[in-house]
Amino acid sequence: MDKKMLAALNDQVNAEFHSAYLYLAMSAHFENIGLPGFASWMKVQAQEEMVHAMKFFNFILDRGGKVDLPAIEKPKGTWKSVSEMFADALEHEHYITKRIHDLVALAIKVNDPATQSFLQWYVDEQVEEEKSAGDMLQKTRMVEKAPGALYFVDREAAARVFTMPAGVTI
Ligand SMILES: [Fe+2]
Ligand SMILES: [Fe+2]
Repeated sequence: MDKKMLAALNDQVNAEFHSAYLYLAMSAHFENIGLPGFASWMKVQAQEEMVHAMKFFNFILDRGGKVDLPAIEKPKGTWKSVSEMFADALEHEHYITKRIHDLVALAIKVNDPATQSFLQWYVDEQVEEEKSAGDMLQKTRMVEKAPGALYFVDREAAARVFTMPAGVTI
């Protein structure tokens, strides 16, 4: 595999684990402030990020590349409000989408159709990621000033469950 491509894929393993760290930090904070439904929602989100990371990890090895695992950056740990957390989550997903698109551009530049094809899953996944964070931001902004309503949105968020995507082993 092209050296620059390999380095960029390794960077993305790290970025996906950092995403998992960020959502785990949010999950812990929600638990601390008495919102277990959002805490559970964020834990599911973190599990999905670990799957994203492991798919890159497996792909690098499948292509005969060397996996490099640098330190994972410490995430932010406190937030002023529920909607601020989902605003951060949405902003983070925009950032990840940009990274995925840059990876696609690099795969095209170095003429690596296998990586380009592999990345398509992430291009589609990011549409979902932005939508789910955006939906939660919109909902929590609407009910934030009404604790009773926030309680029900928290209960609703608890229904989200983790499902392993088809064909993935980690
Ligand atoms: Fe991700
Ligand atoms: Fe994500």
